[in-house]
Amino acid sequence: MERTSKISGFYKLGPQQRLGAVKEFAGLTDEEVAIIGATGALKYEQVDRMVENVIGVMPVPLGVAVNFLINGKDYLIPMAIEEPSVIAAASNAAKMAREKGGFTTSSTGPVMRGLIQVTGIKDPYSARFAVLSEKAKIMELANAVDPILVKFGGGCKDVEVYVKDTPHGYILVVHLIVDCRDAMGANAVNTMAETVAPHIEKVTGGKVYLRIISNLADKRLMRARAVFSKEAIGGEDVVDAIVKAYEFALVDPYRAATHNKGIMNGISAVTLATGNDTRAIEAGAHAYASISGTYKPLTVYEKNADGDLVGTIELPLAVGLVGGATASHPTAKANVRVLGVKTASELGEVMAAVGLAQNFAALRALATEGIQRGHMQLHSRNVAIQAGATGDLIDKVAEAMVREKKVRADRAKELLEQLARTH
Ligand code: MEV
Repeated sequence: MERTSKISGFYKLGPQQRLGAVKEFAGLTDEEVAIIGATGALKYEQVDRMVENVIGVMPVPLGVAVNFLINGKDYLIPMAIEEPSVIAAASNAAKMAREKGGFTTSSTGPVMRGLIQVTGIKDPYSARFAVLSEKAKIMELANAVDPILVKFGGGCKDVEVYVKDTPHGYILVVHLIVDCRDAMGANAVNTMAETVAPHIEKVTGGKVYLRIISNLADKRLMRARAVFSKEAIGGEDVVDAIVKAYEFALVDPYRAATHNKGIMNGISAVTLATGNDTRAIEAGAHAYASISGTYKPLTVYEKNADGDLVGTIELPLAVGLVGGATASHPTAKANVRVLGVKTASELGEVMAAVGLAQNFAALRALATEGIQRGHMQLHSRNVAIQAGATGDLIDKVAEAMVREKKVRADRAKELLEQLARTH
């Protein structure tokens, strides 16, 4: 039979039937089919409603970072991530921050921008004024489609208008400034943008194309700060080394990208664990990192008068607690209970603290002994297990490989044979 990915009506099948079709296409074994199809805590009906063409779930390890003291309150942080060392590093950094009171945070409020692109305008600056003079009407139209959000104190609060020059002439970009309260806000904002578009066409005489939220959520900024005492982190040399590591990222975008990747290790893991949109968060963070025109680190490190290290972070975090997977995914819901956050802004602020902790831990390791020893220690246990080690032989083989700096499957097998003879 011809092997084709053109499967008509695939979406109409049940998940098991789809999985059967995939099995045939890819030549999967029964075991592989069972692995893909095992939905764990979720029911097939639940995942089948979340996305299209469902055949199973992709489980990711869920761990908990400990030691976080944020604004005087203790938090356990659920983190969903496949990368080793991240959760341990965050926990370790949070422990060091505790000595000086942990993290303090603040935020600007849960405000997003919805963009409306207006084209075909001869006199863009007077069209801008025309839209601004209709601000009250535009806000009224936008708010009429989301009375619940308005009831909770949110809704469209302002309208901004920008003129941009494009290869095909001037366009107007109308921004709806929307307070999304505890929602991430994409649905609310997109609906508002689509609703007001015809009125904006009438006022400007132009033609509207795109009506969509911006992920550069620069009105939804989260901030966190922590003081790391020089004693807690290994002395004043380490303070200086971390400041220098930060300054490297400040002047070099090649370094800044990896610096920020480390921040997002923590932030994306909490985003995923709480059922929020990891792509929206990543897009917002990296766009904000380049808002000055140059890609910059999202954290800053300074030495204070006592010789201690002060770390700060500021970035947009459009996360929600209502709507989307946060509300429908049972594990995400339970993870929000573990966190104990009451508002979307509190969640965002906690995430900023996690990002700062993650970055501090990476810089401390990089600026001192390097990250490979810690990584290799974890990795070596996996290599030992894969080579067939069990029980106390796992640690023995792992430790020997790290000592010899030869963390490899062939060496694990040799060591295992040697140890088995003497055991
Ligand atoms: C690895 O996932 C993250 C780091 O590369 C971050 C950094 O370099 O700052 C360690």
